[in-house]
Amino acid sequence: MLYRFLYERLMSRVDAEVAHERAMKAISLFGKSPFASFVSHTIGYRGGKQIHGLLERPLPGRVGLAAGQDKKCEAVEGLDALGFAFVEVGTVTPLPQPGNDKPRLWRHNDITAFRNRMGFNNDGADVVASRLDSLRRTPRGARAIIGVNIGKNKWVSAQKAPEDYYICALKLARYADYLVVNVSSPNTPGLRDLQSVESLREIVHHARRGASESTKRRVPILVKIAPDLADDDIVAITRMVREEDIDGVVATNTTINHSFGEGGISGRPVFERAREVVSLVRRELGMDYLIIGVGGIFSADDAREMVRAGADLVQVLSSFIFEGPLLPGRLNRALANS
Ligand SMILES: Cc1cc2nc3c(=O)[nH]c(=O)nc-3n(C[C@H](O)[C@H](O)[C@H](O)COP(=O)(O)O)c2cc1C
Repeated sequence: MLYRFLYERLMSRVDAEVAHERAMKAISLFGKSPFASFVSHTIGYRGGKQIHGLLERPLPGRVGLAAGQDKKCEAVEGLDALGFAFVEVGTVTPLPQPGNDKPRLWRHNDITAFRNRMGFNNDGADVVASRLDSLRRTPRGARAIIGVNIGKNKWVSAQKAPEDYYICALKLARYADYLVVNVSSPNTPGLRDLQSVESLREIVHHARRGASESTKRRVPILVKIAPDLADDDIVAITRMVREEDIDGVVATNTTINHSFGEGGISGRPVFERAREVVSLVRRELGMDYLIIGVGGIFSADDAREMVRAGADLVQVLSSFIFEGPLLPGRLNRALANS
């Protein structure tokens, strides 16, 4: 209630990206403070039932944070203490890039959604690798389950794109519990064309090669897809996932199927299609693959519905901003008890 009040009266009056940056700074400072342990044991969630068998290490719960919230990898400890069972950082590209011009993030409170055209603003693979290196040396950072979401720099052509995924995997895989090949953000020109099966196959080969050259572990690689793909294209991708021994799918990214202006919509309007995509992907892949369901999950009922549709794990982003810091612990507890 208090968070809702603050969100509506204060945060909504500040530019959405400025509010986001301040919130991430606060979560980052909180994560390094002595309060983090206390919060982790009260409103956070450390998990009773560990979820086994999908990633190398067991997870303390099913609900994680989606890519895009902690692009710089600066707040994992704080996010972990708030009760996320896993955190996906990124999207990270080989070289740092500023992203698109501002404004590039808008609130649509009436439909409980955000619209963004951030364009992979991030600090680049070297800086993120060094942050991950430091993070993995801390007790909470070593324990945290971290996915690393990778992409290509804006100026890199489709032909050269596989090399970018190779570089990112080479530099980042050693710190990751899993990698996500992101080819579905709508804000990098041409990126979504890489979802065509042959482009994606090449990219996944390169990512796999980068990961196996840098670590002896077999780091799971997942592919993140858009909700706007036709069902036939999704089926073709799942066939390729099986052929190439990819470990799973993250479904879905933001949608461009709207008339609000530039960029992708996240939040409530995405839920229905994301759930459908998860269900289709599960039907095609069977039970041996990891599926992370994401898009418009706000409540424990939404999360359960996504799990019923076939997701092993779920992620949230928009609802974390709308609902506040109690959400991850609340959702993880609710799912553990059901
Ligand atoms: C501001 C913002 C930035 C995002 N950046 C990324 C990104 O860098 N990489 C990515 O794979 N997805 C990104 N996403 C998409 C989210 O990870 C997620 O797939 C999408 O928002 C749907 O989930 P939600 O409805 O819970 O927000 C971003 C979303 C938002 C709102």
